[in-house]
Amino acid sequence: MTNSFQTQVTPGASPAPRPDAAARHGVVGMPQLDYTAGLAKEMEPLYERVKTVIPPVEWPFFAPYIKAINTLKKQRGAVILAHNYMTPEIFHCVADFKGDSLQLAREAARSDADIIVQAGVHFMAETAKLLNPDKTVLIPDSNAGCSLAESITAQDVRDLRRKYPGVPVVTYVNTSAGVKAECDICCTSSNAVQVVESLGAPRVLLVPDRFLAANVNNQTNVEVIPYEPGRCEVHEQFTAGELDDYREMHPGLKIIAHPECTPEVLKAADFAGSTSGMINWVQDNRPEKVMMVTECSMSDNVAVENPDVEFIRPCNLCPYMKMISLKNILDSLVYMKEEVTIDPAVAAPAREAVERMIRLNG
Ligand code: 13P
Ligand code: SF4
Repeated sequence: MTNSFQTQVTPGASPAPRPDAAARHGVVGMPQLDYTAGLAKEMEPLYERVKTVIPPVEWPFFAPYIKAINTLKKQRGAVILAHNYMTPEIFHCVADFKGDSLQLAREAARSDADIIVQAGVHFMAETAKLLNPDKTVLIPDSNAGCSLAESITAQDVRDLRRKYPGVPVVTYVNTSAGVKAECDICCTSSNAVQVVESLGAPRVLLVPDRFLAANVNNQTNVEVIPYEPGRCEVHEQFTAGELDDYREMHPGLKIIAHPECTPEVLKAADFAGSTSGMINWVQDNRPEKVMMVTECSMSDNVAVENPDVEFIRPCNLCPYMKMISLKNILDSLVYMKEEVTIDPAVAAPAREAVERMIRLNG
């Protein structure tokens, strides 16, 4: 099935069809997935690390997949990039590199592995492919989209350029390659202010997240023009009133929020930053009680490494991030699916927009 966020391959655009990933790398047999006494013993130290966030009843189901994935990724010469919103059994037990969108893009650029499995959503896998055009990039479920990426098309960006002639366009990395190809430079939530200011223009269009645009606008003298329809369906649900209620219920509570939340929510928070910015804030500040105003898996993932911090957990699930599981990661490695491909005519300008951002950040 193809969604609108997936890059369409224009027939005849590439010189000769490349054999698909399964043909290039071969398919292996599905490993045994029994939870034996020997496996239980071998996996004990790993379980000890994650036992506060993975209930004992779930471990016998996860452990055989974890073992099989870690064995197979070595055999295949593959790396697994995992976004901070992956569930703890993925984040702590099979990921080679973990991080926010910018960190994952950088890791993808540095990777010398032949195969990259993106445990995250489709735009992240596409970014990895843009930066590694000759490597095999797999996403365990290509339906793992993003409401922001879905909210805008390449034609929408062309229309905006006509409406605002001469105004540079910054696109959030949460977009398709087709949209990136139409813009001047990409940004992520961790570098959006820096990217906007780097253009040296009095007005900049920042698409598609209208709340990120409003939040950046509040932090710079540059006029940041938003794209009204764009919003994250997960972060837009939080309200400032909800934050106030939690503060009343939990005296001394520190609240940290993602910049995809509304400006009112950010105003009511003690800190705002990218997913990794939020993790660093907890590690640096070691609050007694903290509430992470973002996707649900974040608190679980951070709690493992910060047992002294109490996490108050109102959260919203990202249904797209949750499409990635140990089962489909293993399927990716066994069957070499689902391969991410990008029309070369789209990939060249989209890559330039991502690389411009990476050059800016060093
Ligand atoms: P980060 O770049 O902060 O990881 O955000 C990505 C994202 O999709 C948050 O919803
Ligand atoms: Fe997209 Fe929001 Fe999910 Fe992040 S949390 S992937 S912005 S829908």
